[in-house]
Amino acid sequence: MKSLIREYDQVSVTKAPKRLHIITFGCQMNEYDSQRMAQMLMGRYSLTPNLEEADLIIVNTCSIREKAEHKLYSLLGRLKRLKRKNPALKLGVAGCVAQQLGDRLFEKAPYVDFVIGPQGLYRLVELLDGLEQGDLHLSDVQLTKEFHIPYIDAPLPRKGDIRAFVTIMQGCDNFCTYCIVPYVRGREISRPADHIIREIESLVEQGVRDITLLGQNVNSYGKGLGHNIDFPSLLERIDNSFPDIRLRFTTSHPKDLSDELIDCFSRLGTLCEHLHLPVQSGSDKILKRMNRHYNSSQYLERVERLRKTCPDITITTDLIVGFPGESQEDYQETLELIKAVRFDQAFAFKYSPRPGTAAAKFTDQVEEDVKSERLTRLLELQNQIGLEQYKRFEGKTCEVLVEKCQDSRLTARTRWNHVVNMEGDSDLVGRLINVYIERACHHSLIGRILH
Ligand code: SAH
Ligand code: SF4
Ligand code: F3S
Repeated sequence: MKSLIREYDQVSVTKAPKRLHIITFGCQMNEYDSQRMAQMLMGRYSLTPNLEEADLIIVNTCSIREKAEHKLYSLLGRLKRLKRKNPALKLGVAGCVAQQLGDRLFEKAPYVDFVIGPQGLYRLVELLDGLEQGDLHLSDVQLTKEFHIPYIDAPLPRKGDIRAFVTIMQGCDNFCTYCIVPYVRGREISRPADHIIREIESLVEQGVRDITLLGQNVNSYGKGLGHNIDFPSLLERIDNSFPDIRLRFTTSHPKDLSDELIDCFSRLGTLCEHLHLPVQSGSDKILKRMNRHYNSSQYLERVERLRKTCPDITITTDLIVGFPGESQEDYQETLELIKAVRFDQAFAFKYSPRPGTAAAKFTDQVEEDVKSERLTRLLELQNQIGLEQYKRFEGKTCEVLVEKCQDSRLTARTRWNHVVNMEGDSDLVGRLINVYIERACHHSLIGRILH
């Protein structure tokens, strides 16, 4: 999953007297949560792209690697100066670093007014009421097994979006030894299918055509819901109810990728031919120490099965280099696996020890310069393979869904999740068009509209 910063830069539908600015770090689940916060505050606040004129700034944070956490601290330095200029400004920290640090964040940054975790954010309105009544340093970082993701019935803060995310479950029970997510997002909790369907219905009414279902481990969707629904049956229900959308999901854990789910790629017309299947390492020794519950041959067997069922499927992945104990041979096995699978795209990271996780306590940590060198070489290999994979589209015609237009430049997407850039008119946004692929670049394609 790519780390990203996205600023909510459009003014919301409802004009409200006060101005809100949200800055989002981290994964798509954080993006989804930022939208929920903006929706909950609609009517009280309208969104502003301008930090200087905001009455409330919320930073939605990510804690996956140390670098992500550091981004928050450098940003807070900037926000402190704003607060000095405008003492009425309210400043909140949400998301995974908020959950990780809780009230300790006030010690690091006393000018922060509130701290709210991924479950607490649904109580944001009550918390802001408390601040308005003069309370100081409020926090809500409860994580309970009894939590349910509430349904927010409000229009999207960004008008005209063609793509949208829908969180179908929150939290994770897997405890991969490197990962902080189970500690900051809590236990796995699935949303009722009826809520998901209702939310998709409302998104489709607002013009959304491409929907990505989100969860840290979508394959185990349905656990604990008390009625008979699993992930393939949720996909089937969505496919039946919304036959005109493009449907995607992320993330899928290789250990739980069932034949039934693989069959959905050939059975369900809305399900796009792309699977993000994080492998993390090609070494069985390292996979075991990561607590991933599969080995490299099982991963390759799943890939083979996927390609048998859906021959042109795109497979993307996440990789970690320099996990504790990773020898040169282990690393070489990761490179071999990359060559064997031929991913269209891979997000690769240097292992970063995270507080409270099992791997942070392993004594055989890899030197930083070794990690950097391994990452560089891995990216060189993947860039070359990725480009070759993209080149298979050169000279072909693809159907794409147009997502955006800026200065007569259209951005569109194939069903296989490749971004295609081309010249065109803004009235094509939201439409499916046929495009001739002229050239492949790293991570995108250049096309020409066929009339
Ligand atoms: N739920 C997803 C991944 C979520 S985190 C899954 O199970 O695959 C996104 C990616 O961040 C992970 O796939 C992993 O590659 C990377 N990551 C997680 N913790 C990390 C750490 N401590 N250091 C480096 N990369 C990490
Ligand atoms: Fe982290 Fe593993 Fe859960 Fe993914 S499955 S969120 S990597 S603990
Ligand atoms: Fe980051 Fe939290 Fe997502 S740690 S990757 S924002 S679940």
